[in-house]
Amino acid sequence: MGARVLSTGRPPFPRLGGVLHCGSHSLETLADDHDTPLYVYDGARALERLSAVRAAFAGVDLLVAYSIKANPNLALLKLFADAGAGADIVSGGELYCALEAGIAPGRIVFAGVGKTRTEMGYALKSGIRGFHVESSQELDALASVAGELGAQAPVAVRVNPDVDSPTHEFTRTGHAAAKFGVSPPRALELYRRIAGHAGLRAVGIDVHIGSQVRDPGPFLHALDVVLEVAGRARRETGTALEYVDLGGGFGIEDAVGGEIDLRGLGREVAARIAAAPGRAPGRPLELIVEPGRFLVGDAGVLVTRVIYVKRSGGKTFVVTDAGMTELIRPSHYGGEHAIVPVREDGHGSPRQVDIVGPVCEQGDFLARDRRLPLPRPGALLCVQQAGAYAFAMASNYNSRPRPAEVLVHGGRATLVRRRERYSDLIRGQRT
Ligand code: LLP
Repeated sequence: MGARVLSTGRPPFPRLGGVLHCGSHSLETLADDHDTPLYVYDGARALERLSAVRAAFAGVDLLVAYSIKANPNLALLKLFADAGAGADIVSGGELYCALEAGIAPGRIVFAGVGKTRTEMGYALKSGIRGFHVESSQELDALASVAGELGAQAPVAVRVNPDVDSPTHEFTRTGHAAAKFGVSPPRALELYRRIAGHAGLRAVGIDVHIGSQVRDPGPFLHALDVVLEVAGRARRETGTALEYVDLGGGFGIEDAVGGEIDLRGLGREVAARIAAAPGRAPGRPLELIVEPGRFLVGDAGVLVTRVIYVKRSGGKTFVVTDAGMTELIRPSHYGGEHAIVPVREDGHGSPRQVDIVGPVCEQGDFLARDRRLPLPRPGALLCVQQAGAYAFAMASNYNSRPRPAEVLVHGGRATLVRRRERYSDLIRGQRT
């Protein structure tokens, strides 16, 4: 775990008069107005984090491509689009959402090991900035699609740098045994093929080592590897790249650790890019970063109501109306989200509890063995760091309609996605 670095800017979701707020809106009032479970996002916080990323990489020609998978809510995408951000996408659906929100196609990069020909055609016609190619067969498919459309596809090879990143095994992507990217020698082969193909044009080089990584070390190691590959591609195939994409994965503060020292990382990255051969004399490589969680993770919370408190087998279970269907991170990745009462009433000393959902799975929990003042049924709890990979991974399992999302921005609280109804559960089905 990295050193505890204070998170950037003002703390989101302040406690005012004992009650948590988003901006000037009490989470109690929002829960009363929109029911629970409820996701609440702080737009100002998301934009503040975008500024923090830009400040950390100051001095570099930078594109921040928001990783849409973290939270594809259109209202958030629109905020980022208006602020000039780009997008990292991994599907045709994400491309559609990005374009709907007004993100400029020239700021969109497309990663993923399984892009289909249909998705490639859609992205090519849309004029995206780069296809981040992850295999030899994918390059063939892209060349063929480009040929059919009479277009030239902009390509960056995603390199697997074989670095180990200290994070959960499911969110580690930069080691050799991961399904992502290609080895440095294979990347050089691909650049050679791109150079010899009229339908392909090498524009960049790409790497992404994992998610919720707090240690800057593996990012720098990965950058060294890709800059070395870029240098060899230039010398051996005459390829002059425009950008290096360092991926996302910058770790944020949660219940167990602090956030990455992004400024420190930014300084080191800037120095390496300045020293590397650029696009042309006097024109250093452009840097793309793809943060998802860093931008929206702590800009969102999940507000949930306690249904029952139950003692059984020597344990105390706080049963809430949100569970793994609204936040799968605790059970799937061992995610440790801070969970606090929405109203602090000063009653009751902390007890060790499991906070569990209503889903019929023993693996359905929001937190285990947490110390919490024992809430009463009806009390509201606030699950923090729920702006990223929360709604995005929500499901209808147990035929549970997905919750509403509220965005607080510019003093207003807006319902940006209505709660699903039972009728949504059978939409598109027939008997
Ligand atoms: N770029 C690429 C190519 C990615 O695959 C990802 C995330 C990102 C950027 C953004 O990573 P971030 O900055 O958000 O860490 N569901 C998991 C995280 C999976 C991340 C997948 N890829 C979780 O809840 O921890």
